[in-house]
Amino acid sequence: EIFENSVNASKIVAQEIADLIIQKQENGEQCVLGLATGSSPIKVYEELVRLHKSGELSFRNVVTFNLDEYYPMKIENQQSYYHFMHQHLFDHVDIHPENINIPSGDIPVEELDQYCIDYEMKIKQYGGIDFQLLGIGRSGHIGFNEPGSHRNSGTRIITLDHITRRDAASDFNGIENVPKKAVTMGINTIMNAKRIILLAWGHKKASVLQETIEGDITSTIPATFLQDHKNTTIICDAEAASEL
Ligand code: GLP
Repeated sequence: EIFENSVNASKIVAQEIADLIIQKQENGEQCVLGLATGSSPIKVYEELVRLHKSGELSFRNVVTFNLDEYYPMKIENQQSYYHFMHQHLFDHVDIHPENINIPSGDIPVEELDQYCIDYEMKIKQYGGIDFQLLGIGRSGHIGFNEPGSHRNSGTRIITLDHITRRDAASDFNGIENVPKKAVTMGINTIMNAKRIILLAWGHKKASVLQETIEGDITSTIPATFLQDHKNTTIICDAEAASEL
């Protein structure tokens, strides 16, 4: 779906998330959200916060699982996705802190494999992800599933693509400060979500969006795996759609 700009599009996405949370609340169920970082979802979070502040939306029944975190990374670091999520969403809504799950970038290397298995297991214990929000990297990544990621991959540690590190350089005051690795949900973790919305704004995403939508399914552009998902919508603005 192509929108003129990201403002109205983000409001529509936030409303779909709010409707799902409310519907689950009415059924006495928890709502499991898979959440993304980066600039793309910021306006969606803004709108969710607005709906909460206006009294229309509570996060009491919401459980969240974030897609990824840099590795190594401490939560108190300004560049951590932990910090990002609290700044843009969690500090402003009534979610129970124990319902927030963000991969840790601070696990000793020898414990990482088990940590990733446990993260994956916890998602399953909650019955899987009801709604997954995604952005897309210029490398074709979703979460931090860089080119070469396997369709059946689960939560794991990965090496960041050069393009991804270059794009993050301004946040870290230079590419040399960008972590080389990250912990990310896998392609399979994402594909198991019942509903997925991927957001893409601006001309910088035009080329990768064209490949994602019109190209062959390939691990070279991991976002192409979404072509096989039964309930995915890609929401973009006119600039991101310019090469379709
Ligand atoms: C990061 C995140 C991704 C995100 C991507 C795009 O690398 N790990 O989940 O989709 O950046 O970022 P932006 O939305 O800022 O373009």
